[in-house]
Amino acid sequence: MNIGIIGSGGREHALCFKLLQSSKVKKIYCIPGNAGTDQIANNVFANINDFNEIYKIVKKFNLELLIVGPEIPLVNGIVDYFEEKNIKIFGPNKKCSQLEGSKFFMKNICKKYNIPTAKHIEIAEINQGKNFLKESDFPIVVKSDGLASGKGVTICNDEEQALKDIQKILNGKFASSNKVFIEEFLKGEELSYFVITDGQEYKCIGTAQDHKKIGEGDVGLNTGGMGAYSPSKIINKDLENKIQKKIIEPTLNGMKQEGLIYKGILYAGLMINKGEPKLIEYNIRFGDPECQVLMMRLNSDLLDILMSCFNNKFGEQIIQWSDEEAITVVAANKGYPKKYIKNNVIENLNSIENNEKQQLFHAGTTKDKNGKILASGGRVLNSTVLSKSLKASRQKAIEILENVKWENKYFRRDIGFRIID
Ligand code: AMP
Ligand code: GLY
Repeated sequence: MNIGIIGSGGREHALCFKLLQSSKVKKIYCIPGNAGTDQIANNVFANINDFNEIYKIVKKFNLELLIVGPEIPLVNGIVDYFEEKNIKIFGPNKKCSQLEGSKFFMKNICKKYNIPTAKHIEIAEINQGKNFLKESDFPIVVKSDGLASGKGVTICNDEEQALKDIQKILNGKFASSNKVFIEEFLKGEELSYFVITDGQEYKCIGTAQDHKKIGEGDVGLNTGGMGAYSPSKIINKDLENKIQKKIIEPTLNGMKQEGLIYKGILYAGLMINKGEPKLIEYNIRFGDPECQVLMMRLNSDLLDILMSCFNNKFGEQIIQWSDEEAITVVAANKGYPKKYIKNNVIENLNSIENNEKQQLFHAGTTKDKNGKILASGGRVLNSTVLSKSLKASRQKAIEILENVKWENKYFRRDIGFRIID
């Protein structure tokens, strides 16, 4: 089978790596991919939000299945577009994608179907915010309604900061939406819970924990994720049962009652406090870098799992995992998530061994015309290792990153610190 993977991050490189282990995969085309996918598959350039352009690629290379990595094309309706053309595409349609695309939509589903989440109020103008903040406890969370690449949330310790952040969003800081809401700060430990569903049944497709902050000790600005590990250490049978019964099932069933059949990956970002889960947010796709650790631990054939969602075989599909523990450490360009210098040459990549236990997935990398690989994005490389212990995995992942050299390389050495150190 010829497959198209849409996206250009570490998540898409990891999906590509995993799919290539399937004997049924003939060729993979990454649209547009990065310098890492270029080494193991075929990159084809296209704007991932220009569906007509992607359609031409589908026809040219005879692609039989499309897998969408990032959220923006999903929210823009890529699934509806290709379903209409009778091309298999894995992911939720435009209406279902609002679970991530609009926090208001997500909160309304929570309210209507009694799904535990942080209390919140919607703010239409600044005075409303002022009145609400007078009676609030701090910290408090200010959020934008729409997509914001992980940068739409600020945790505010006082009224002054909260009002500033509210005003910025009202003024149009994010192109996706200028609606804003204030939310109760949830205490506890975060857990990423992933499910896959064919629209009828669902199964868990892994747990992970990520580190969103730029600095060691989880301080500083929020990023797309500076590292992750899997499995999560806080999950157990009782907690998983609560997550399924109180959050996942009411969501999927509630959506059905709204006439919306959710298909694809659903990633629940949860806060766990004293064994009770609350929903922070939904994502409609695999996490990045969580996908990298999940793909490292997945023993089953990923193509079989995805195809079973199209041919009514999902119920009988078994998803098997390695007993070992995976970690990924993200190396970024120093300065990310703010401004950074880009396009420095990365040295030594060829000396790094990639195998089933260790992968240096690429994220923001490109190849220049002389064949040199450049650190072109914010997050650049994801050193991902599977071994018997997280501590050993982390040590190896760091060792690999130390051997790769470019000016402005930055990475955290403390991924997983809450359970390792
Ligand atoms: P989101 O974009 O909603 O996933 O939020 C990004 C990150 O901000 C989350 O992973 C949490 O670390 C943090 N966060 C968001 N909402 C809350 C909340 N209500 N309470 C505590 N932390 C939150
Ligand atoms: N790592 C967080 C996300 O992919 O949303």
